[in-house]
Amino acid sequence: MNLEQKLAELKRRDSLAEAGGGKLRQDRQHKEGKMSARERIEFLLDEGTFEEFDKMITHRCTDFGMGEAENKVYGDGFVTGYGRIEGRLVFVFAQDFTVFGGSLSEANAAKIVKIMDTAMKVGAPVIGLNDSGGARIQEGVMSLAGYADIFLRNTLSSGVIPQISAIMGPCAGGAVYSPAITDFVLMVDKTAYMFVTGPDVIKTVTHEDVTKEQLGGAMTHNETSGVAHFLAHDDAECLSMVRELFSFIPSNNLDDPPRRECTDPIDRADAALDTTVPAESNQPYDIKDVISKVVDDAYFFEVHEHYAKNLVIGFARLNGRPVGIVANQPAFLAGVLDINASVKGARFVRFCDAFNIPLITFEDVPGFLPGTKQEYGGIIRHGAKLLYAFAEATVPKITVITRKAYGGAYCVMSSKHIRTDVNYAWPTAEIAVMGPEGAVNIVYKRELESVAAIGNTGVAKSEAERAEILAKARNEKIEVFRTRFANPYVAAERGYVDAVIQPHETRKKLIDALEMLQTKRDKNPPKKHGNIPL
Ligand code: HXC
Repeated sequence: MNLEQKLAELKRRDSLAEAGGGKLRQDRQHKEGKMSARERIEFLLDEGTFEEFDKMITHRCTDFGMGEAENKVYGDGFVTGYGRIEGRLVFVFAQDFTVFGGSLSEANAAKIVKIMDTAMKVGAPVIGLNDSGGARIQEGVMSLAGYADIFLRNTLSSGVIPQISAIMGPCAGGAVYSPAITDFVLMVDKTAYMFVTGPDVIKTVTHEDVTKEQLGGAMTHNETSGVAHFLAHDDAECLSMVRELFSFIPSNNLDDPPRRECTDPIDRADAALDTTVPAESNQPYDIKDVISKVVDDAYFFEVHEHYAKNLVIGFARLNGRPVGIVANQPAFLAGVLDINASVKGARFVRFCDAFNIPLITFEDVPGFLPGTKQEYGGIIRHGAKLLYAFAEATVPKITVITRKAYGGAYCVMSSKHIRTDVNYAWPTAEIAVMGPEGAVNIVYKRELESVAAIGNTGVAKSEAERAEILAKARNEKIEVFRTRFANPYVAAERGYVDAVIQPHETRKKLIDALEMLQTKRDKNPPKKHGNIPL
């Protein structure tokens, strides 16, 4: 071969690799509203930064006619390599559905393993763009082995480099477990689905009738199962969300999250905060209004928006520094902690702690949700996850109690006692073992029973008069209780709350505290790993 022929051969192979499964299949992909694997990578990364690895790889399978030349596609259906987002290094793989349905082979699994190993060595995130029919059926156990090789790396990379999974097509069977181990899962509405077993198997085994969408569509996993953290309406939105998410997180566990220049005045005081909490303790308000009035440019990037709405989590910036926000939501189920909210919060807290992102907690919680459904479902074990996560976290932690901090939930929600660095309370805070109504029913049970029986004059009265006397006696006790405990001052006198602050000064207080905690050093006792109640 002369030089010209050699260059032509490279060009031929390049264009074959780029053609993937061919024009017909590419057209079908586009008709379904999906980008091709290469278009997705191009959209995701800064222009012209993608460097591809293993473009010429082919599978080694010879069974089922796979050894025929027409069944070998350069790259073997996965596009892998590295590039930049906002100038920062990331590794990426995209499954090409046009090549054997994006199925995983021994050869293309090795491509993913290669970029995962390199990403770990250099400390850069891995972003997976999933669109695959799962294990390549023709390859049998070699494909399963490829999955297991990836799962191992997902696990070993966890907490060292961020891992993000965008589900942009099918993701079924055991294949779902790789995204499940990664830190964030995004799903595209109508084109993405995830399930361990599909509708046909379910019909055979349990006789249930369910569509793919109902079973494992994007909304199902965003709203019901909590498997997915973000819902996107199309590929472009999904990839833009990945870029946005990446802007809040560091490249690895030794880096700090990327800081941005802040033009929002750090001492901006929003007077509306002073009247956000309603005078009536049982009235709802939207905690997201509080968050947006406090953070830079009112910008809050919510995670798990559709799941367990009684707890709000997400990223924001304070004076340009990324923070993770965990907040009870009084506007939904009164902000109570239940199983789903506890698990949602715990995983987020652990992510932030692993990646040096300070935690800001806004607390207004009436306690854990009572009832057999929660108890049988294991609220004890699941609630403990959130407690464990906050207690174990060594990043800077700051809490603001806006209203209720009742019972066990007081302890759990980043209280002073579990190593929170700075605990603030608004004057509207109510810190107690339980709400005054519940407390009075227990503490004054006998006294109120005797009032109900005879009236407070000692003379038996009519039903209506007795009820009136009882209500009056009860309200008096509630008032006594409220005055004693439903305020932040008992906790402030003990030092459990560092300061009671005016709501409008919250932004400045948080920024000052974060600045003070900038050099925080704290660690947990040496151990192989803890035993979080999973
Ligand atoms: C090899 C596959 C494939 C697979 C799809 N194809 N899945 N080839 N192995 N797993 C091929 C098809 O033969 C077809 O080839 C092309 O991809 C597109 O597939 P279609 O069926 O035409 O597409 P569509 O109608 O959109 O349906 C997509 C699909 C369906 C729902 C994903 O293909 C499907 O059910 N595939 C099998 C899914 C599955 O059961 N996988 C194994 C899961 S278990 P041509 O040449 O016609 O274009 C698993 C275990 C992992 O993954 C274990 C890890 C521990």
